[in-house]
Amino acid sequence: MAVLKQKPLTQPKFEILDGTISFICPEIDLAVKKIIDCQTGALRLQEAMAYVTLKGGKRFRPLLIKASGDLFQIPFKTLLPIAVAVEMLHAYSLVHDDLPSMDNADMRRGLPSCWRQFDEATAILAGDALLTLAFEVLATAPLPPDVCLELVIKFAKACGANGMAAGQMLDISQDHDNQPEKIENLQKLKTGELIAFCCEIGAIVAEADSKQKEVLKEAGYKIGLIYQMTDDLLDLKGNVVNIGKPVNQDIDKVTIVSLLGVDKTGKIIESHLNEIKLALENFGSKALLFEEIIDWVIVRES
Ligand code: IPE
Ligand code: IPE
Ligand code: MG
Ligand code: MG
Ligand code: MG
Repeated sequence: MAVLKQKPLTQPKFEILDGTISFICPEIDLAVKKIIDCQTGALRLQEAMAYVTLKGGKRFRPLLIKASGDLFQIPFKTLLPIAVAVEMLHAYSLVHDDLPSMDNADMRRGLPSCWRQFDEATAILAGDALLTLAFEVLATAPLPPDVCLELVIKFAKACGANGMAAGQMLDISQDHDNQPEKIENLQKLKTGELIAFCCEIGAIVAEADSKQKEVLKEAGYKIGLIYQMTDDLLDLKGNVVNIGKPVNQDIDKVTIVSLLGVDKTGKIIESHLNEIKLALENFGSKALLFEEIIDWVIVRES
């Protein structure tokens, strides 16, 4: 599986190697494991939660959180509980996304999807438990209470019925009249909201002004869109070994790629990319990691 690896911190460049975003993965894995180890109420549920959080995943959202923190010189250690909460929630969204009643996917991260490995009821419950646990982790993060509350509220909004859940509903029901603007809105909700939240986190924790938060959130929506567009491109042209999930699993859905074609999608991605870079210009060299991540998104093969 293709992986991002960071060179030494003095020269924070990434290169695609073979695995995950290795420089933050061990920290995330360790922190997630510590928390999952305490979820002993029902061992089968705990096993399923560990299966979907500790076996792969690019850890793209934690990397964005780190990049957002870099803009305000916040150490990743401070942001780690937030990154853990986001990865737990992301894992829940994938577990439910793969269910037979949703995308009916057999494989995730190169392994049988959760419902395939366990059963549907266990997958639903593992998703429920991870969603709930994510909020517990975030609410108990050692951060100032005001910051914590703002994070919890924005996290909830990003994932709920005006955010990811709405996007998934529109996606499943294909409610977009084949209009590119409506599809973009759907993708903004299902993928963009959580990614926009990740991008804003540095500004929230730094207690920056609302303008800076807004700039990062808007850039985050665009990153979310190009991330989903590249996901849809990989669904069409990707390599199952690299992406760790079946190709053509969304072939019956209308996406920007299927509606406008690969070339036009490439142009849209390029225009979003330029706008994101423009938004980051004011942060100067502190935006280096951010820029590298975005450059990777458009060429990613995993
Ligand atoms: C998959 O997300 C779902 C989308 C929003 C495209 P990722 O591609 O980040 O999934 P993992 O965590 O690396 O498996
Ligand atoms: C899933 O989008 C988005 C969320 C889980 C919110 P996809 O259905 O395209 O994701 P994959 O391709 O299964 O990872
Ligand atoms: Mg889906
Ligand atoms: Mg899917
Ligand atoms: Mg997809």
